[in-house]
Amino acid sequence: MNIVAFNSSPRDNKTSKTELILQKFLDGARQAGAATETLYLRKYHIKQCLGCFSCWLGNQGQCVQEDDMTGELLGRFMEADLIVLATPLYHFNMNARMKSFIERTLPMLNPIFVDRGNRTIHPFRVDQAPRIVALSVCAFPEFYNFQALSLNLRMIFGNNLVAEIYRHSSELLTVPPLQFQVGLVLLAAVQAGAEVVRQGKVSPETMDALTQDLAPRETLIQMANQYWQGERAKQESPAPPVEEDESVDKWV
Ligand SMILES: Cc1cc2nc3c(=O)[nH]c(=O)nc-3n(C[C@H](O)[C@H](O)[C@H](O)COP(=O)(O)O)c2cc1C
Repeated sequence: MNIVAFNSSPRDNKTSKTELILQKFLDGARQAGAATETLYLRKYHIKQCLGCFSCWLGNQGQCVQEDDMTGELLGRFMEADLIVLATPLYHFNMNARMKSFIERTLPMLNPIFVDRGNRTIHPFRVDQAPRIVALSVCAFPEFYNFQALSLNLRMIFGNNLVAEIYRHSSELLTVPPLQFQVGLVLLAAVQAGAEVVRQGKVSPETMDALTQDLAPRETLIQMANQYWQGERAKQESPAPPVEEDESVDKWV
């Protein structure tokens, strides 16, 4: 199985918590026999969709714009057996970079409206469209923060969306006193990757382990506030005065 992950975090790989969970997931996928690759959207130039529908009309399946989406990313998307869309949660949804990327996959869809009973869809142009795994992290300590993102992705990808990996309290994943619980979460992310490759979905037990609380909610709120207050205090306190050394000649 060929897995391509698209990570839309603007942060570097050491800081990004999306990356932390994503790479554990991909570790598990590789252990189960998949080949994996991660593409970082921050490194690519992705223009906004023009809404011209050229890709649905004269330009059959081709976008009129020239950028990394047409040059590389769309092809990589279509060639994969499974795609991981990994985004930090921004304002309760995917971040803008990921949204632009998804909008630019419009050429993969057929313009025809298909009636699926209680909903209408555009089918994929190709028979074998990649399956999708959604992955996201958020800083707030409640899982329900992913509700809008989850609904959005289920509406976009329908049955192609085979798994959703969401991890709340993301900024606490690197806090030393929590490392025992964090270890269990990261192990579950590895397990989730292996299960998606082997069984095509994540088991409820693994989801429970992945989404377990790291500490009582009130403690996490307190820790987060201590962190922000500490950082603000550092910035607000004036720099200590530099002692003048009379023995040194002054240049100005
Ligand atoms: C613009 C912006 C919006 C955010 N919105 C939310 C939010 O709605 N809910 C939340 O819990 N965290 C929110 N966060 C926090 C991020 O989801 C969190 O820091 C996450 O770890 C970022 O992922 P990354 O480390 O991979 O970049 C937001 C952060 C930024 C910068």
